[in-house]
Formats: sequence, structure tokens, C-alpha cells
Amino acid sequence: MNTLTNKRVLLGVSGSIAAYKSPDIVRRLQDLGAEVRVIVTDGGKEFVSERSLQTISKNKVHSNLWDKEAELAMGHIELAKWSDIVIIAPASANTIAKLCHGRADDLLSTVILATDAKVMLAPSMNQQMYASKAMKDNLKILLKRGIVIIEPGFGEQACGDVGEGRLAEALDIANQAADLFTSTSLSGKKVLITLGGTIEAIDPVRYISNHSSGKMGMALAHQCIQAGAKTTLIIGSISIDIEKRAEVIHIVSADEMYEAVMKRIESQDLFICCAAVADFRPKNVSHNKIKKNNSPVTIELTENKDILASVCQLSKRPICIGFAAESENFIVNARAKLESKACEAIILNDISQSEIGLNSDKNEVHFITKEHCEKIEKNSKQIIAEKIIEKITNYYF
Ligand SMILES: Cc1cc2nc3c(=O)[nH]c(=O)nc-3n(C[C@H](O)[C@H](O)[C@H](O)COP(=O)(O)O)c2cc1C
Repeated sequence: MNTLTNKRVLLGVSGSIAAYKSPDIVRRLQDLGAEVRVIVTDGGKEFVSERSLQTISKNKVHSNLWDKEAELAMGHIELAKWSDIVIIAPASANTIAKLCHGRADDLLSTVILATDAKVMLAPSMNQQMYASKAMKDNLKILLKRGIVIIEPGFGEQACGDVGEGRLAEALDIANQAADLFTSTSLSGKKVLITLGGTIEAIDPVRYISNHSSGKMGMALAHQCIQAGAKTTLIIGSISIDIEKRAEVIHIVSADEMYEAVMKRIESQDLFICCAAVADFRPKNVSHNKIKKNNSPVTIELTENKDILASVCQLSKRPICIGFAAESENFIVNARAKLESKACEAIILNDISQSEIGLNSDKNEVHFITKEHCEKIEKNSKQIIAEKIIEKITNYYF
């Protein structure tokens, strides 16, 4: 079954009596994994409240072309670019006619002209209106332009007539939207990725951490999302923008990362442990700032829990992929790590070269399993991530 995981759906609700069914359409789209935003026309507002649509979509509802609060006061462009698909359901006779003529006199019609996303219409109107020559001609024009028409149903109508023109069922609309997107290698899968460095407090102002930027983990997150996975990120200290389509949990210390992972791991299909987790933390965290007193200060360290190894020991666990940052005896050390953690694969980073690995934009890695040791040649972290996800899907999904 196709899904709408990671897809951004803009639902246009126009002035048909069936607009009262639009909150259910939002629900069915969300059930298939979509994020939904809604534009409602003035006609649509006569039949459904903006509050219902806002509450169910969990997003602000848009209706005003002249909204000063929209980004650069150009909400139509922002929404047009945001959407992977625009679905007008219900599509009124008036809105359909406006689209035919390329009118742009309200937010919905302007967005349709401004978007390069797929567009679907679900007409809904009185059977005589639907059977009219003008409507048939208009739909033919829109079909020729590549707009997908969701056929209305046959039956009794709000006005008492019986005939063709009832809005298609909400579930059919959602499924037909999902069918427009070909399923991808991780469609329907759940992926958990840890990334960034952890911070281990010494006292209220000082800490132990590392140079991890989170770039490799975020590139992997992007590739998983592109491949259709529902992706959750557990993020430590990073210096990059966060992928907006992922669910995000922020943590500070290795202990917090361990708890956050364990809470979510059971439902995952794939776990990628990309964070630079501190192996040690100060055994005692001073409540007050440690003062200088001309004598050496000793900080006793204690070992943090091993997140990857702990997950690998669970009886019900996802496919587990770890990273190893090594500065010597690369392959031997990575193979030892593969064995000690009992994970499916280790991605080996050579951190002895300053232009690759931690905090740089490039990387060069080895993908190591019990049977294979494959080098992925130096490239941008985006390309390296693409190749890593390709291998993971080929081997395990
Ligand atoms: C009670 C009532 C019900 C209506 N139902 C429909 C309908 O089901 N389908 C339709 O195309 N128009 C229907 N209309 C007409 C539209 O609401 C009208 O053409 C309006 O201008 C549509 O505006 P919009 O396309 O900008 O939303 C209805 C009008 C009224 C007063």
C-alpha cells in the first residue's frame, strides 16, 4: 500500500455543501503519514469552521491572500512551494471554472497557478450542475493540463436529488493521493537516528564534549526521509539546521540520549547510532563552580552506558547500524567494534584526516558487516549518506 509519509499536502476546501466532510479528509491524509495544511475559500467557510480545520490539521488555516503575517506577505508563494501535492476537496463548480481560466482572485486559485506540485480535484455539486456541458468542458481542460480528477460518487444528494456529484469518500481521496507517489525503498519504515555530540557537565558552567557537528547524521536523516521512512532524530549538540520533516527530540547528556532511545526503540525498523556519545562523564558533578586555588584539579571519570550495545542486546530490536571514529588500525578496530556491539554494520570514519569526518563537510567511510568491507570513496556527506542508505536498504529491507 502506498503512503503519504513525509509528504506535505495542501488541502483546498471550497464552497460545496460537502465542505463539512473536509476535517475527515484531513484525518485520512494524516493517517497515511501526511502533514496537512488547509486553505479554505470564503464559500468553504460557509460550510465548515476554520477552527475545526485548524484543530484537526494542527496548523493555522489559510484563507486570506492579503495576509500580512505570511512570510514576506506572500503566503501564496510560500504555500505553493511548501506543497508536494494540492488537493481541492470538495471542489466547487465555481472554483473549477476559475482554475480553467487561470483566475487568481483568492488565495486558493493563486496558489494553484503558483505551484509546480501535483494537483488533484474532487468535484462535489448538484447532479445537474455536474452534468452541465460547461462543467464537462471545464474538467476536460483541467485533465489535459495534467490535473487529476477524483470522480464523484452517485447517490442521494443534500438537495434531495439523486445522481452523480457526491464528494468521493475521504479514504478514497487520501488513497488516490498516495497512489500518485511511487513507493520508495523505506516507505512505511520507521527509522531512529542519534546525532551530534553529548555534553557531560563538570560543574554548572563547564562540560566535556566533542567536535561533532551532526552533519553526517542530518544527511542520513534527509536520505531516510527521501526514501519514505518516518524518521525520528535524537539530537545532542549540533551546529546545523534541523530537517523539518523529522520528529525531533533534543537531549544534552549521554544518559539522556540513552533514555530517549530506549523509550522509542521498540517500534523502530532501523536504528542508526551516529551521535558522538561521550564514553565517559565526570563521576561527581560539582553543584558550585570549581574555584582555582593554585593546585591541580582532578576530575574522576566514570563510563557512560553503551547505547548501541544496549539496543543490540534487546530481544526485540531493529536493524542496528553504528559508527566508529578511528584514528589508527581502522579496519581491525571497526571489526572488533562490530563484534563487541553485535550490530548489523559499522560505518568506519577515519578521523586522522582533518578534511574528512568530524565537523567537516566531506567524508570517506567503510561499510563493514560480518561478510563485507566496502569503501565509499571521499565525497560530500549528502552523497555518502545516499550510498549508506542504499546499502542498508539493499542488505536489510
Ligand atoms: C446552501 C448552498 C449549497 C451549495 N452547495 C454547493 C455545492 O455542493 N457545490 C457547488 O459547486 N456549489 C455549491 N454552492 C454554490 C457555491 O457555494 C458558490 O458557487 C460559491 O461562490 C463557491 O465559492 P468558492 O468556489 O470560492 O468556494 C452552494 C451554495 C449554497 C447557498
